[in-house]
Amino acid sequence: MDAFISLQKSIERLVRIRCSNYKEDYIKRRILSRMRLTNTADFEAYHKYLLANPQEVDLLRNALTINVTKFFRDPEVFEVLRREVFPDLAARRGSIRIWCAGCSTGEEPYSIAILAHDLLALHPGASVTIHATDIDTVVLEKARTGIYDRKALENVDERQIRRHFISHDDGTFEVRPHIKDLVKFRQHDLMSGIPIARYLDAVTCRNVTIYFTEQQKNELARLIHSALSVDGYYIMGKTEYLGREVEHLFAPYNVMQKILRKAA
Ligand SMILES: C[S@@+](CC[C@H](N)C(=O)[O-])C[C@H]1O[C@@H](n2cnc3c(N)ncnc32)[C@H](O)[C@@H]1O
Repeated sequence: MDAFISLQKSIERLVRIRCSNYKEDYIKRRILSRMRLTNTADFEAYHKYLLANPQEVDLLRNALTINVTKFFRDPEVFEVLRREVFPDLAARRGSIRIWCAGCSTGEEPYSIAILAHDLLALHPGASVTIHATDIDTVVLEKARTGIYDRKALENVDERQIRRHFISHDDGTFEVRPHIKDLVKFRQHDLMSGIPIARYLDAVTCRNVTIYFTEQQKNELARLIHSALSVDGYYIMGKTEYLGREVEHLFAPYNVMQKILRKAA
């Protein structure tokens, strides 16, 4: 069997990632980066290494999923933002400021912008700014274009697609200017210790910390705490958690959806 096909079979079994969900070129580029770091010469050698080193399974999983995102990822979280969090902010604040940290190719901040746009229609005096940051300038470039294929939009309903996206002849969809204008993209390293701003009303930092050490996770929690206003919301990824050392900095708001609020 072809060495790459055989490696993919092991990846499906061990890493539990369906390679066919990704472009082959993408999978190959990620594996090649792991091959460089593990000093393995070809797919066959890397396959042997993967089977012999259990820790490589996690490292490969992280390499494969590192920029993965989509519109309204975990829709139930966005439902709580739509029904409870944003109306609360609009009732208390004239100008709402949100930081979407680790935004990858932009689907998350644009999803928030779509909710914010609907909110602004109900609160004409309010304004919303979404600061979207990532360490990776390549993903930020794609984010700024706002052009996506159909798959990224699978959680967006047809009505929202018609209202907020321009459908292009090549099958792609481009975020319309009224949504793009709400989001400001900027490169920023969450490990720099410096928040992009303070007195923010909400920070989303989701599915970013999977390969952070416990210490880095704690420092990130402190950074987000320092960036928020009292009572500001911190939205974590569904599989992420706060370390013991920093638990006191936030109060639970919605435990299931991993939404917290800054403690006084
Ligand atoms: C899996 S994506 C998550 C995207 C989105 N938040 C979501 O949940 O769908 C993780 C993103 O975190 C970014 N990231 C990783 N380390 C970072 C760091 N130190 N500072 C800023 N961004 C980082 C990666 O570049 C990647 O785009």
